[in-house]
Parts: sequence; structure tokens; C-alpha cells
Amino acid sequence: MTARCALVTGASRGIGAAISRRLAAEGFELTLTARNEGPLAALGEELAAAGARVHTVTADLSSEDGVERVAAAHLERQPRLHLLVLNAGMALAGPVADFPLRRLDRMVAVNVRAPLRLVQVCLPALRAAAGEDPERGTRVVALASMSGVVAEPQLGPYGATKAALISLCEAISVEESGNGVNATALSPGFVDTDMGAWATDHIDRSSMLAAEDVAELVVALTHLTARAVVPNLVVSRAGDQLWRA
Ligand SMILES: NC(=O)c1ccc[n+]([C@@H]2O[C@H](COP(=O)([O-])OP(=O)(O)OC[C@H]3O[C@@H](n4cnc5c(N)ncnc54)[C@H](OP(=O)(O)O)[C@@H]3O)[C@@H](O)[C@H]2O)c1
Repeated sequence: MTARCALVTGASRGIGAAISRRLAAEGFELTLTARNEGPLAALGEELAAAGARVHTVTADLSSEDGVERVAAAHLERQPRLHLLVLNAGMALAGPVADFPLRRLDRMVAVNVRAPLRLVQVCLPALRAAAGEDPERGTRVVALASMSGVVAEPQLGPYGATKAALISLCEAISVEESGNGVNATALSPGFVDTDMGAWATDHIDRSSMLAAEDVAELVVALTHLTARAVVPNLVVSRAGDQLWRA
């Protein structure tokens, strides 16, 4: 039996690193990507030392070339893909009233355009792997956000890109589940990472979600049969506000 393989974007730190560690422990062969070489290479070495097969590729997913190179880094070695984790994302805050459109364009490129293009390029490999194991199928998991489910002050434009990602996951499942490929959006509230640090002026860090909890949900999805479609997993923080980031 050959190992299942996964491609994880934004793998070098935060939620992506936690997901990569859990997938490596599950025996996945990994293609990991981020922009900066140092932290990505360090994670690759850590996982390889623990016995995982890991390939790293640096690329900026805001560029067309970067997206194609990431897909090629996996597909040139492996014609099959069992799990595509669309985790890389950027969050820029500000009120809708005067949010600069150039900032919106940058977020759309990383949070929506790159995921859609990666899905397009990887679908033949996802379908091929699902065809070999129809009972389990293959999965796309995209890191959306609570702010894509309910509006959050200052996070309107960011939330709009995440709402688009949730919608994209639904479309993938309705179009591709017949081919064994299901998609799930993961929509957590604030997670204790570099990105989550933005909110520490009004949210206590100790109340934020753990990246490891999000990673555990990704692994759980890989244990389901292809018959189970999970459109969106919302993860709230403990406290009296169920539908707030
Ligand atoms: N933290 C939260 O509170 C929270 C809550 C809900 C959802 N999310 C979502 O969860 C995902 C991961 O968030 P996180 O908190 O783990 O973020 P993070 O700590 O800022 O890590 C982001 C990861 O993505 C990579 N990355 C960023 N921009 C990139 C680009 N243009 N091209 C390629 N790689 C890029 C980063 O590496 P480099 O900088 O080296 O590229 C890093 O590996 C994001 O999609 C985020 O929107 C986060």
C-alpha cells in the first residue's frame, strides 16, 4: 500500500504547521509550501527526522507563477493527491467604508484566486486517487473563518473572501463528490497564531483556539468515507458569544 499524500499551503507556521505535523504523524507523504524558506525548511527537517516523507517548495501564492509552481512541485513527483489543504491566507483589517481596493485585491488573490486555481490544477490527481479508493475518496479542506460565516467589525473585506471560500467548497462538493472528491471549509474563531495576534488588543490570547484543535479536525475528515460530505465546520471559542470570531 503506497502512502497517502497531501499538499498543504501556508505550512510553515500557525495552523498550517499544526496540520502538517498531524498529517505526518498519520503517515501522509507531504508537499509543504510557504513564501519564506527558513521556517519551512526547519519544519521539513523536523518532520523528516521523525520519519515523514516531506518535500518543501517556496512560492508566493499571490502570483500566478507561484500557484502553478506549488502544484507542479507535487504533481511532477506524484500523479495522485489524497488531500489538498488550502490554508495559506492573509488578513487585512479595516472598515468597509474606506477599505483600499488594492488591499482587497491582494486578499482576493491569496484567499480566493489561488485556492480556486490550485483546485483546478489538482483535480485530476484528486479524482485519480479517489478512483483507486472509492470508499474513502479524497478531500479538499480550506481554511475559511468565522468572519466568513457572520460579519465581524473591521473584518468585512477579509470575511467576504472567506465567505467566497466557503461557497467554493460547497461548489466543489456538488460538482465533484460524484467523482469521489469532497470539500470542507473550516471556519474557526480567533486562533492563537501570528495572524491571531492582531486581535490581542481586545481578545485575551488564552481564550483563543489552539491550532492543534483545528489540525485534529482536518485529520478527522480524512477518516470519513466518501459518502460523508461536510460543507463547513464552524469552531467557536468558549464563552457567551457562539457566533463571534
Ligand atoms: N489565526 C486566526 O485567528 C484565524 C482564524 C480563522 C481562520 N484563519 C485562517 O487560517 C489560515 C492560517 O492562518 P494562521 O493563523 O495559521 O496564519 P499565519 O500564522 O499568519 O500563517 C500563515 C501561513 O501562510 C503562509 N503565507 C502567507 N501568505 C502567503 C502567500 N502570499 N503565499 C504563500 N504562503 C503564504 C505563511 O508563510 P510565509 O509568511 O512564509 O509565506 C504561513 O505559513 C489562514 O487562511 C487564515 O485566514 C486564521
